[in-house]
Amino acid sequence: MINDKKVLFSGMQATGNLTLGNYLGALKNWVTLSDEYECFYSVVDMHSITVRQNPAELRKRARALLTLYIAAGLDPEKNCIYYQSHVSGHAELAWILNCFTYMGELNRMTQFKDKAAKHADNINAGLFTYPVLMAADILLYQADVVPVGIDQMQHLELTRDIAIRFNNIYGDVFTVPEAYIGKVGAKIMSLQDPAKKMSKSDENPNASIYLMDDTDTILRKCKRAVTDSLGEIRYCEEQPGIRNLIDIYSACTGKAPQETVKEFEGRGYGEFKQAVGEAVVSVLKPLQDRVHQLEKDKAYIDSVIKNNADKASYFAGKTLRKVQKKVGFPERIRG
Ligand code: TYM
Repeated sequence: MINDKKVLFSGMQATGNLTLGNYLGALKNWVTLSDEYECFYSVVDMHSITVRQNPAELRKRARALLTLYIAAGLDPEKNCIYYQSHVSGHAELAWILNCFTYMGELNRMTQFKDKAAKHADNINAGLFTYPVLMAADILLYQADVVPVGIDQMQHLELTRDIAIRFNNIYGDVFTVPEAYIGKVGAKIMSLQDPAKKMSKSDENPNASIYLMDDTDTILRKCKRAVTDSLGEIRYCEEQPGIRNLIDIYSACTGKAPQETVKEFEGRGYGEFKQAVGEAVVSVLKPLQDRVHQLEKDKAYIDSVIKNNADKASYFAGKTLRKVQKKVGFPERIRG
């Protein structure tokens, strides 16, 4: 607890172009939860370098992501919005937790298997221990809740296992976190292949709606979304393309999927796709406008970066010192 509130932690990678999946699966829920919890929202730039990055590009994207957090409605006075690399405690705790995580556990991570297959020429140790750094992110702030999309559930489970294992040895050191998965939008699928999740790294640009896509592009991508030949708008597994569009429409309008189905009963796919596109635009356009506005205020963004790194370091330091003491590191002599 911080200030009598439970703690929330979440993060996003500053890699590639953020998609509608990132927004509906995570960022949108962050904003909803931000009043109820003491929140830490990190731009996880250290995770990004598990895949080769262009340094200038990474810096640019990290800043754009931090700006996006604020544009989405997270008030940096109330929420700690910061770069992971500015708080050394993440790396320090990750090292310790590495010593409490088994190779077998990491070998089972599906994201590692996927990424290793995709980057066969660079299967580095960081890619393998990526989930341990993620566990360190969460446990460092004693987070109670972690809002994520479904694809991060396996990493969350591992985080819980590591925390419980550590607590069993050393007593109640870590809060064991719970995942928060939104009711709609927790797994937005590719518009071109609804069996795959919508992903930043998809090579086909028509498969994903990027958060900074302009109105025409969004409408066009929705229009071209792969559906089926059944001609009926139903929310079922046999119609994964339509189901995904129902999820997108519902998440953007705040309606339940069944309400959406009712609304479009008897109407054609063309009309429905147009409505989905417009619903997406109604969410993304104001977000883009705020991003552009904020980008102009360099001094403001700089002050957020500085102040919040200090705040995050303060809380991270508290947990880290406790953990270091538990595992037997000698205390520092100050003064
Ligand atoms: P990342 O950057 O891949 O994704 C950020 C968030 O977006 C969610 N997401 C989706 N949700 C619904 N549909 C989709 N198609 C979709 N694609 C992505 C993800 O579930 C995630 O919540 N390892 C994490 C970043 C991270 C983290 C953390 C998250 C590092 N440390 C600690 C939580 C807590 C990642 O790569 O997310």
